[in-house]
Amino acid sequence: MTVPSFETPRLRLRPFVEDDAPALHRILTKEDMLKYFPSPAGPSLDKVEKFVRNQIRQWATVGYGWWAVELKSTGALSGWNGLQYLPDTRETEVGYLLDRPLWGRGLTTEAARVSLRYGFGNLELPEIIALAHPENLASRRVMEKLGMRFTGPADYFGMQMARYVVGRAAFDMGDIAVGGPAN
Ligand SMILES: CC(C)(COP(=O)(O)OP(=O)(O)OC[C@H]1O[C@@H](n2cnc3c(N)ncnc32)[C@H](O)[C@@H]1OP(=O)(O)O)[C@@H](O)C(=O)NCCC(=O)NCCS
Repeated sequence: MTVPSFETPRLRLRPFVEDDAPALHRILTKEDMLKYFPSPAGPSLDKVEKFVRNQIRQWATVGYGWWAVELKSTGALSGWNGLQYLPDTRETEVGYLLDRPLWGRGLTTEAARVSLRYGFGNLELPEIIALAHPENLASRRVMEKLGMRFTGPADYFGMQMARYVVGRAAFDMGDIAVGGPAN
């Protein structure tokens, strides 16, 4: 399938390409970047290459996945944002990660609104969940700013996570500044 791209005022969400692996590896090996992930140690370049290939495959097999996020002002790869299917629970999760120097500017929330709008508007999903380590307060704050509702602790990925949910009817589709598909 052709993976759509989207633009927000400050970001471009585009398909991952295999050449993204070295830049993504630099981001993921920064201190504390994966502090709240099941495997907090920075991955090897080989693992990141596999991860990128898997993201490309996800779009082809599931029909959606994570986008590579670029900062428009520099064109630099700056993280990921998008939707992931969880086969064990048959849920769709919104996920995100942003390069450390860019934290705290509202950029993840800006990109995640595109992910939710795509999930509800294009894929017509009934609901989307989000999961964070309970102590990952920045991630939980993003979920709150997106209008997601905390449903309590829940076991995912072998960890206890804070689970949030938003349904299609409750999501404000109109409140999003998105430039529309770029291709
Ligand atoms: C989580 C993450 C994606 C947030 O990205 P971001 O671009 O900084 O997010 P935003 O700027 O859109 O929003 C962050 C919010 O959290 C708040 N915040 C940040 N650190 C916080 C803390 N320790 N306690 C409480 N709130 C915090 C910010 O103030 C902001 O809220 P505000 O707009 O009301 O002030 C980023 O920190 C990251 O990539 N972390 C590493 C990867 C990760 O944990 N991903 C999520 C996995 S569930």
